Amino acid sequence: MRRRKIGVLAPVLCLAVHRATADVPQNPRDNFCRRIGHQTTFIDDKLYIDSSFVNFDTFPTDNKTYPNTWLGFQDFDNLTLRSDDALWPNLNIGLNKDPNTIPTVHGGALWGDSVNKRFFLFGGENTKGVASTDFHLLSYDILNDEWDDFGPPDMPNPPNISSYGAGVGVSETGQGYYYGGWISNASMRGWTQDRTMSSAFYKYEYDTNATTGAKPPDELPRAEGAMVWIPAGYTELLIYFFQQRPALFSAAESTELHSLQNEQSRQHDRLCRAGTALQLSHWEMHVLVGSNLL
Ligand SMILES: *[C@@H]1O[C@H](CO)[C@@H](O)[C@H](O)[C@H]1NC(C)=O
Ligand SMILES: *[C@@H]1O[C@H](CO)[C@@H](O)[C@H](O)[C@H]1NC(C)=O
Ligand SMILES: *[C@@H]1O[C@H](CO)[C@@H](O)[C@H](O)[C@H]1NC(C)=O
Ligand SMILES: *[C@@H]1O[C@H](CO)[C@@H](O)[C@H](O)[C@H]1NC(C)=O
Ligand SMILES: *[C@@H]1O[C@H](CO)[C@@H](O)[C@H](O)[C@H]1NC(C)=O
Repeated sequence: MRRRKIGVLAPVLCLAVHRATADVPQNPRDNFCRRIGHQTTFIDDKLYIDSSFVNFDTFPTDNKTYPNTWLGFQDFDNLTLRSDDALWPNLNIGLNKDPNTIPTVHGGALWGDSVNKRFFLFGGENTKGVASTDFHLLSYDILNDEWDDFGPPDMPNPPNISSYGAGVGVSETGQGYYYGGWISNASMRGWTQDRTMSSAFYKYEYDTNATTGAKPPDELPRAEGAMVWIPAGYTELLIYFFQQRPALFSAAESTELHSLQNEQSRQHDRLCRAGTALQLSHWEMHVLVGSNLL
């Protein structure tokens, strides 16, 4: 039997579809052009896509970017046949999400918990501008299709909430991490300074509902980039790629090994230079090593 290829996501050209837009509600499934700034997580073969901005297929004529108030998912266990004979996981936008109670943010992180079938939304900034409520950790319960409010983080110094930091959720250890990002009045209610980069590194324990400060590799503020978790024997690695930091510090291509266990950082020369992304002048990579976290 001939195997069908799984469709690749080709750049969408947003070809103009002429239709009356005035009173036809648009949605990101039937009028899809592109999404920007969303947060995602993968649980049980489903890719959950939360919030941010969307351009509809009227974008070439209306040039408008809308808040994407939907929580959607694509099910990689339920592929449908596309007209070009490729298999494709259709986007489902029927999940429960009330934009009046669950903020529509961009640049946050979804920390997946495949054991308890839920994910947590941490950080991000309001798509409508200034944040009007204090940050609460919100969590989506997949089995019950409902959102739960886990409250504000209980820390001696309340966290500075940022957007476009590097975040990763680890189901295997029951932990979520968020590092750096941009703090602004859109990410954090009551922030009166200009938008600034954060040096904070936060860790959340799924089982105890505790947010704590993790030890960053250094005190430098950073933003953007990405973080991935790799199980590596009895230890584990958090690998952090970052993109932005203040011009004061020249961003050399370097790699840092950081032990979460004994809180030591070590500089390693160009350990991981293979990836082309690391050839870009403003990329650095940090490897954060932890053990006994399982
Ligand atoms: C589309 O809107 C953006 C701002 O939202 C503006 O900078 C840009 O010039 C607009 N483009 C066109 C073709 O009108
Ligand atoms: C599979 O997806 C189709 C449309 O994308 C949907 O109608 C159907 O209910 C889904 N089936 C399952 C078992 O989820
Ligand atoms: C989680 O912790 C916060 C801060 O202490 C608290 O407000 C909230 O009620 C807790 N939520 C759950 C589900 O335990
Ligand atoms: C939050 O930001 C302020 C202002 O930059 C800084 O003084 C403070 O240390 C930060 N707090 C935390 C917990 O990172
Ligand atoms: C929010 O921050 C931006 C950028 O610093 C600033 O221009 C704006 O006036 C601030 N808005 C409010 C309501 O504080």
